[in-house]
Amino acid sequence: MGLGTVVVNFSVNNNNTFSQTPLLHRFPHFSFMATHFNVSQTQQFAPIGNHDLLIVGPGVLGRLVAHQWRQQEYPGCQVFGQTITTHHHEELLQMGITPSLNWTKSLHKFPYVIFCAPPYQSSDYLGDIRQAALCWNGEGSFLYTSSSAPYDCNDNGLCDEDTPVVPIGRSPRTDVLLKAENIVLETGGSVVRLSGLYKEGKGAHAYFLEKGIVESRPDHVLNLIHYEDAAFLSVAILKKQFRGRIFLGCDNHPLSRQEIMDLVNKSGKFDKKFDKFTGTDDPLGKRLNNSKTRQEIGWEPKYSSFAHFIENL
Ligand SMILES: NC(=O)c1ccc[n+]([C@@H]2O[C@H](COP(=O)([O-])OP(=O)(O)OC[C@H]3O[C@@H](n4cnc5c(N)ncnc54)[C@H](OP(=O)(O)O)[C@@H]3O)[C@@H](O)[C@H]2O)c1
Repeated sequence: MGLGTVVVNFSVNNNNTFSQTPLLHRFPHFSFMATHFNVSQTQQFAPIGNHDLLIVGPGVLGRLVAHQWRQQEYPGCQVFGQTITTHHHEELLQMGITPSLNWTKSLHKFPYVIFCAPPYQSSDYLGDIRQAALCWNGEGSFLYTSSSAPYDCNDNGLCDEDTPVVPIGRSPRTDVLLKAENIVLETGGSVVRLSGLYKEGKGAHAYFLEKGIVESRPDHVLNLIHYEDAAFLSVAILKKQFRGRIFLGCDNHPLSRQEIMDLVNKSGKFDKKFDKFTGTDDPLGKRLNNSKTRQEIGWEPKYSSFAHFIENL
């Protein structure tokens, strides 16, 4: 494949050096003309290499995957980011991720593709998944970061990789995830069903803390995985080049909503105090265990539990 060309809209100013853009990694002699205006630049990149990665949805998780992929696994490889708007393109460029709105509609194909965009921002999420599948050249891996939500359990019972999922048609939320998974699996890609993602300032605990009083029942069990651990797991799965497999990402320490917020309140590490949960009859949750995934992938989380994360804040 020859040099690719893509038009990227972004805003630059005289202070930006773009010293970390992928373009400059590959073409150190190339420089951008600095301007105070929003400009449309024609950006070139090197031929797609054996370890180059396309991230559809380079948000919180996708950026951690990018970092791990290029810093730890394949230094010098190119990482591309497909987004839904141009809002974060400048940030992505500065992180060394070549952004685009259009690659999934182009002829470029990549050996590694991870789809880690959430369903709520797109009017045609399944179409976006299909386009991402078309961008995979069938070599390395294609991975979709789904959710553990479809496991059919709402009595705080035990669940693992083999627990049946809810039937399609029960709820629009799980339908979109299951249909997306099916598209990925049919094309030979794999799926990792992630539990609730969190990090400092983001996730269920941050949401509850911000609200103070939440109209949900306190004894509903939640399952968590730190964003960094989800990124390490995703990278480990990508590297193993599976075909048509489903994995589960969780920390194996399910906690009720109340237990999570008790840990937050007792830690003394947050400015705010959580008040209370007021729900009584909404559905319960599930207790996830991913021992099979851990054994097969050879992965263990760095944050073994939410309590461990809080201790290390
Ligand atoms: N949050 C959780 O607790 C949780 C639980 C289970 C699974 N997951 C899954 O984990 C993955 C990562 O979540 P996250 O929190 O890292 O996501 P995030 O930060 O919200 O991701 C946002 C990024 O995705 C881009 N994007 C959104 N829709 C897109 C689309 N249809 N096509 C291309 N790009 C799109 C956005 O583009 P712009 O820059 O243009 O806005 C932005 O770059 C998602 O697949 C999510 O469904 C999350």
